[in-house]
Amino acid sequence: MRVFATQRLPGPAWDELQDVEIGALETGRDDVRALVAPGARIDDAVLDLFPALRLVANYGVGYELVDVVACRARGVEVTNTPGVLDATTADLAFALLLAARRRLVEADGHVRSGSWRTGWWEPPLLGREVSGSTLGIVGLGRIGAALARRARGFDMRVLYHRRTPVDEPGLEYRALDDLLRESDVVSIHAPLTPETRGLISRERLALLRDGATLVNTARGALVDEDALVEELVSGRISAGLDVFVHEPALPEALLGLPNVVLTPHVGSATVETRAAMTRVVVDNLLAAERGEPLLTPVP
Ligand code: DGY
Repeated sequence: MRVFATQRLPGPAWDELQDVEIGALETGRDDVRALVAPGARIDDAVLDLFPALRLVANYGVGYELVDVVACRARGVEVTNTPGVLDATTADLAFALLLAARRRLVEADGHVRSGSWRTGWWEPPLLGREVSGSTLGIVGLGRIGAALARRARGFDMRVLYHRRTPVDEPGLEYRALDDLLRESDVVSIHAPLTPETRGLISRERLALLRDGATLVNTARGALVDEDALVEELVSGRISAGLDVFVHEPALPEALLGLPNVVLTPHVGSATVETRAAMTRVVVDNLLAAERGEPLLTPVP
């Protein structure tokens, strides 16, 4: 089965593919049956270039760039990579939480710039408590649940919001607005869909407590980014952000702010997890080639 990819994916599994061509999406191909194109929008215009296509194997769990309806209409199946990046992404969310609350990046810069000239008892860098504070998780799927487990190790009280509440011992369900009002830290773990776009609106951001921290490792467009920038510029809240609306661009105003920790969409970026994601992509491609059921078709 001829596979067309816009890049080689990391890890050994990739070498199991027999018939794969790497190239630019715009060139198109009549004989290609499966497509791997990380970060590319797959819509009718792209599908027109690959008339024999049967599978789009999305590299990542979030597949909002793939027009699944357009694919279905042409008999093209879509797969993603759920399950293998939950721990890694939850680790990053917790790292951002700690970094923002304890002002780690600022403190590091303080030392490196030679500005550290005081005793520890007159510190310029007082952070906010993590242990024992209240964490609100928006979207209690696999990654949100992995974050909740990490939070328990820090004696945090954990609130969560999701469409359908679940019976999870130790976790307290809250309506979204109540969760935002009650939490010291809010971490977002919802998928980006037409319904969740802008979920954390300007009005909802205003519900956050003074001194609260917002962590986003999901998708930038879940939050009203302009309103978030205004809140951060005012200094009322802090944030740890791995995702942005127009990646790799981000609002200029964020760059000079001390109260936001910024990372370049690295939630799943470990050697092990990226190789595991490739494994899932390749297993789906091989299953399609053999005419077997796909491992992780998108719902
Ligand atoms: C995903 O899988 O959707 C991630 O954003 C990539 O880390």
